[in-house]
Amino acid sequence: MTLNLFSHAKLGSISLSNRIVMAPLTRNRAGEGGVPQPINVTYYEQRATAGLIITEATPISAMAHGYPLLPGIYTDAQVAGWKKITEAVHAKGGKIVLQIWHVGRISHPSLLPDNALPVAPSAIKPAGQAFTYQGLVDYVEPRALAADELPGIVADYVHATRSALDAGFDGVEIHAANGYLLDQFLRDGTNQRTDDYGGSFENRARLLMQVTEAVVAVAGADKVGVRLSPVNPFNDMKDSNPQALFNYVAESLNRFGLAYLHVVEGGIHGGGESEPFDFSAMRKLFKGGYIANLAYDKARGNAAIASGHADAVAYGVPFIANPDLVERFKADAPLNDADASTFYGGAEKGYTDYPFLKA
Ligand code: PHB
Repeated sequence: MTLNLFSHAKLGSISLSNRIVMAPLTRNRAGEGGVPQPINVTYYEQRATAGLIITEATPISAMAHGYPLLPGIYTDAQVAGWKKITEAVHAKGGKIVLQIWHVGRISHPSLLPDNALPVAPSAIKPAGQAFTYQGLVDYVEPRALAADELPGIVADYVHATRSALDAGFDGVEIHAANGYLLDQFLRDGTNQRTDDYGGSFENRARLLMQVTEAVVAVAGADKVGVRLSPVNPFNDMKDSNPQALFNYVAESLNRFGLAYLHVVEGGIHGGGESEPFDFSAMRKLFKGGYIANLAYDKARGNAAIASGHADAVAYGVPFIANPDLVERFKADAPLNDADASTFYGGAEKGYTDYPFLKA
């Protein structure tokens, strides 16, 4: 029998009732202190028929923040808030993993403790502007992390993972994509270090491998995924040889036996015109589950699964506007259009008020 989006799947220890995954989506609607609110519970609960929900990217420490109103995963109150979400999703038969995040240089002192400078592999200022509580403000030159600070960052990932397990998540996804901290180490446009964390592929991938090893030691490899975005230019990112770099990264991750690799197959935020990249070649090097993401529709999702390219497909914007995306795909029903003006911040409008097919 040919597999499709509606087939059951297993990613590590996580059983999926279908292969339609909700992609991680920043929505900027957490409460005071980065604590998930009742409205966030409703939002995720509405989408629990996804085979797997990957939460919005979630800062692992106060220094990991880069946008207003993000939920965190490092205080007891945050854990208690997330627990209500995992319980609601599980009660509906869904599965949910937490995406753990450090933004690195994509931040601003006004978002950080004591107006600290954002941290990064190298002191290279991103082009563009940060979203702050005061509006858009030019990015600043970040501070290059000293090598002896990196064990502290790994420890923050470990603490976040423990907190995620305490909150009842089915696993965690390590965010190593889209120009945030771990991706800043991987790509040479942002990493010009001359120590053990810069230069060769091995050196640039070292922090990701150390984080993965530490997270796997806490959660078990069968509950851990990693997300990469080899050619996404978003956040002023580039690399001199992405195919060789990310082939190396995919192969190097094999040693952990992860639940899955999740790949953004292009550029996000309208940056769709990324340079050519052979995702199929990279996928074949990875011995484990693969979640494909970016601009898939139902037909292309089914084709990716039938061909063996992907084990599951992550849908982002379609899940914003269609809490019952699985039902709609099944029925070949029309999809609601997403309203981009309500993606970030606000309350129910554009968040929990998109209509279901059946009331
Ligand atoms: C965003 O807020 O635009 C954003 C956050 C996390 C990502 C990508 C984009 O991985």
